[in-house]
Parts: sequence; structure tokens; C-alpha cells
Amino acid sequence: MVSRRGFLAGLALTPVVYAVGCAARVTETAAGSRPLPIPPLAPSTVGADGVRRFALHALSGTTEMVRGKQTPTWGFNGAILGPTLRARRGEQVAVDITSALPEPTTVHWHGMHLPARFDGGPHQPVAPGATWSPTWTIEQQAATLWYHPHPHGATEKHVYRGLSGFFLLDDDAADALNLPSTYGVDDIPLVIQDRRLTPAGALDETKSTGIGMLGDTIITNGIADSHFTATTERLRLRLLNGSAGRMYNLAFADNRPFQLVATDGGLLTKPVEVTTLQLSPGERAEVVVAIHPGDTVALRSLPVTDRAGIDRAKEFGFDDTFDILTLRAAPTLRTSPAVPATLIPMTPLAAPGTPATRTFDLQWFMINNQRMDMARIDMSIPVDSTEVWAVTNKDNWPHNFHIHDVQFQVIAVDGNPPPPTLSGWKDTVYTAPNHTYTLAMRFADHTDPTFPYMYHCHLLHHEDQGMMGQFLVLAPGQVAAPMAGMSHH
Ligand code: C2O
Ligand code: CU
Ligand code: CU
Repeated sequence: MVSRRGFLAGLALTPVVYAVGCAARVTETAAGSRPLPIPPLAPSTVGADGVRRFALHALSGTTEMVRGKQTPTWGFNGAILGPTLRARRGEQVAVDITSALPEPTTVHWHGMHLPARFDGGPHQPVAPGATWSPTWTIEQQAATLWYHPHPHGATEKHVYRGLSGFFLLDDDAADALNLPSTYGVDDIPLVIQDRRLTPAGALDETKSTGIGMLGDTIITNGIADSHFTATTERLRLRLLNGSAGRMYNLAFADNRPFQLVATDGGLLTKPVEVTTLQLSPGERAEVVVAIHPGDTVALRSLPVTDRAGIDRAKEFGFDDTFDILTLRAAPTLRTSPAVPATLIPMTPLAAPGTPATRTFDLQWFMINNQRMDMARIDMSIPVDSTEVWAVTNKDNWPHNFHIHDVQFQVIAVDGNPPPPTLSGWKDTVYTAPNHTYTLAMRFADHTDPTFPYMYHCHLLHHEDQGMMGQFLVLAPGQVAAPMAGMSHH
């Protein structure tokens, strides 16, 4: 286990090689639930240039997602998922990505503010046998981000096969809050995904619904039916909906309250106490839950209550209940400090009533009546501008909205103040039918006349079907110079 202390101490040394801590390996015991696998912290080295370097190798293998079944899967540095990358604000990072997959993939840094040419979207394919080495400086606050493939038209399949990992960012302000932060002990990453297996145990990629491949089996950190043994009075869970299209409405089986402390882009200004929390695909949340000695309690997904305007809720899985993970508390627990009453300040980017400068209508597999075209730039945005976007779901289907490069603030929902759960930094927001979400964001740094960033629905089937657009961030006087020969389609 690489402790928090060890992690911080390691930063002072160069070069540093992190030992792989808790391997994502599962000990077979008798029938029943298995221990939750914790993705290992990715080893990294810091060279004389000060750059923290990671390596990711995309490969295929088999995983016992469901006990007794060997399922062919894809993963980074292992058969499924990937190691947790971790870096501090201000650090320069580089990732050497190689692929042994049979087809091109990409690795996108979801939630990261970084140059468009290193964003890992559809314009940065990694061919089989090739190496891609993006590098950038971490210039944003502590947050739970993630990485996943983004190949044009094939994102759902690549993610479904298992390619996803966490990218955790640290900073001094977050450290000072004394939240649970010992990785794998009281600070637990949980990627929640749904899968459907054939009788032979292979991934069933044939049965698609209007929201894409919808599974009937929940895997958490890559396996079904797992438990975690808590040894502390409080646990911080870093929740990621890594599913293609399924929504989760998370709660504890005994309805105990928990504190939402962070959303996609980092910590909230203050904790928000809730008993349920809805996450749409791609969204993250950090929550802190109190544990009592001897507790056994399941983290569940309950039927989705936020379903107004959805015409086929059952088909989309909104009626389902699943266990995500069982928490078992040790008989005695180590003391955890209380969650502070205030967390990280946030300066509003725009007053609540600010009119939108751009509108985005989500309907069918289109945004503003257009499908994604790799060779079409939908918008050019001047650098150092704050924009206000109004996003409306005009369908009777669920959608959400994700923007690359930036974190945004939800300044209004249908003109009203957003609920407290949407009071912090977001990069992906659920958009219920017939509602308008007004988002404010600032485009800074990383101008590029050639390589665009994406915005899209993060229901991956919808994204693959073309519910996506592209924007450039331009310096003053810079002229868009798209992409001769860049279009693959
Ligand atoms: Cu999580 Cu454009 O992606
Ligand atoms: Cu993204
Ligand atoms: Cu959608």
C-alpha cells in the first residue's frame, strides 16, 4: 500500500519509482462476495526534467467479473480497467501509451484542462503497436478525474470491454482539509459499470437499447458482488459512473445520510448532506460516509426518481435496483476527523440571470440538428473568455452534456438556482427532458487553430451515433486552420 504520507514524501525525491501497492487481484475464497479490488496506483518516475512519467499499455486478457466465468476483456496494464494515475497541481506529467489491441483506440483525460492535441479525443488515435506520449502541466484544483478511450464511433465498445481508469489530482488546499485520504484504506475509488454476459461468459455486445448497451450485472472496480472492510470511522468514496448509458441513484441500504464533498471538478464550497445521489454516465462524486463498528451495509442503486418526460424508463433501466458494494466494518475502527463545515471557495463565473450566448438543443442523436463531423468545426471560442451556454434536452430520452477542457458551473436550471448537488464544478451534467441547464465556463490557455476539443452527450451510444460537436480555442488574431487530411470519415 502506498500511504498518503509515502506519496507526499516521494514527491520530494527524484527520480521516484512508486511501488505498485494493492494489486487489483482478487483472492478466491468460498462462495459469496469477494473483496473489492482496488486499482493499483500507477508507478511513475520523475526525471531530471521534473516531469512525472507514467506508462499505460492497452491490452486484452480475461477477467473473472462474475465468479466462475472467464470473460474476455480489455484493460490498461492488466486485463481490465487501469491503474490510478495521481499527480499534484503544478506538476508536469507525461504518459507513454502503447497499445496491443487489435484496432486503434485513444486515451482521453476526462475532466482535465490540457492542450487539445493531448486531449485524447477522436483526433489522437493510437494504432496497434504505436506509442503516443501526451504531456501537460496540471493546472487545476484537486479532483477525481478519469481516463477512457474516445475513438470515433467506437467509444462505447472500448469502454464496455473494460478500458477505464482514475486520474486523481491533489493540491495543498485539499490536503489541508484532512478528509480521509489513505488510498485503498479510507479513500476508495469506485468505478460502477453494468455488463451483460452471454451464457458462455463473454461480454454481450449485441443487445442495445435506446441508451446503448444496458447490462443486468453491476461490476464495481471490475467485479460483481464485492465487499470492502472498513477500518476507519469515515470512508471517502470516489464514485465514478463508468457505464455506457445506465443511470445510478445511489443510496445506502439503511438510508443513512452521507456527505457529498466533491463533484466532477473538485471539492464543493461546503458539504451537502444527502441520502441519495444520482450519477449519469461520466459523472463523478466524492462522498464521505460514517461507519459504525460491526456495520454491514450495502451501497445500492435504487430506481431513478428523476424521470419526468422519459417515455421508456423501464427499458432504460430506471426501475432497477442493484447492490454496488457491501461495506463491512471491523469490530473497532480508527478515529477519522470530522468533515470540515467549509471546503474550497469558488468564485462565481457569471451571475445567475446571465443570458446564454450559445444554445445547445439535444434531440435524437444530434446537437442543434447536426451530427458529429470530424472535419467540421462547430465553434471557435476566443481564449480568455467566459461563456454561458444553455443546454436543453428536447427528447423524451435521457441525455447528459459533457465539455472537454473546462470545468463549468451550473448557474441555473430552467432559470432557477440549481440544487445544492449541482453547486460545484462540473464537466458532465444530467439533462432531464424538457429542462434547460445554463452553464458558465471560462476558456483559458492552450490555443490551437487545428486541434479541437469535443462537447457531447456522455451516453456513449449517443456519442458514437454523432451526438457530439467540436470547438477550437483561438488566440487573438488566430484563424481556424482545420485539419486538412485529418478527417478519417
Ligand atoms: Cu469522458 Cu469526451 O469524454
Ligand atoms: Cu471528456
Ligand atoms: Cu444522449
